[in-house]
Amino acid sequence: MTEITIRDATVADIPDLHALIQSAYRGEASRAGWTTEADLLDGQRTDPEDLASVLADPAQALLVAWRGETLLGCILIADRGGETGYFGMLSVSPTLQGGGLGRRLIEAAHAALADRFGARRVRIQVFPQRETLIAWYLRLGYAPTGETVPFPYGDPRFGLPLRDDLQFIVMEYGLV
Ligand SMILES: CC(C)(COP(=O)(O)OP(=O)(O)OC[C@H]1O[C@@H](n2cnc3c(N)ncnc32)[C@H](O)[C@@H]1OP(=O)(O)O)[C@@H](O)C(=O)NCCC(=O)NCCS
Repeated sequence: MTEITIRDATVADIPDLHALIQSAYRGEASRAGWTTEADLLDGQRTDPEDLASVLADPAQALLVAWRGETLLGCILIADRGGETGYFGMLSVSPTLQGGGLGRRLIEAAHAALADRFGARRVRIQVFPQRETLIAWYLRLGYAPTGETVPFPYGDPRFGLPLRDDLQFIVMEYGLV
């Protein structure tokens, strides 16, 4: 079988990226995977304009995993300053989840955050309702910081909430 390659996304990847992220996070397609936001949010997770602005920003990047002509996964990385990195938009094609690609993308994100931005710690934001996902992040070495971040209610670019009590918890991983 063709090898999986992980590389930086380019503008040409945006249509495939948009479709992949939407299928992993939202709606019926996402339920084929083991974890999804479909019970918490409807609407979009991102859009092509948002993805283009990420690619144009020197403090951010999207890593993409391709096998041949098929986009299998992605992860967004960002420099948050103060030796702190961030990852988000972690997505694996729903029917291919559970095979280790998610972990591989996180490892690639950790290496890129350290190499490009000098990050010594990585922060992520998770909905506390997603217990199986949080359990995985704990197994990967992330720990809750005790901080919370409000969900951007009223901005449909981030989705249409299905409940009125959404907020994120912050988890952190030490790179050194
Ligand atoms: C989160 C996501 C990227 C993981 O990708 P993946 O390719 O399945 O990841 P991996 O195969 O490397 O690891 C999956 C882990 O979940 C575990 N897992 C698999 N099926 C599971 C299930 N039904 N219930 C609970 N855990 C399960 C695996 O055992 C593995 O844990 P381990 O690494 O300790 O062995 C993928 O599920 C996804 O795209 N989800 C939708 C988008 C999303 O929620 N992103 C994260 C938002 S912060």
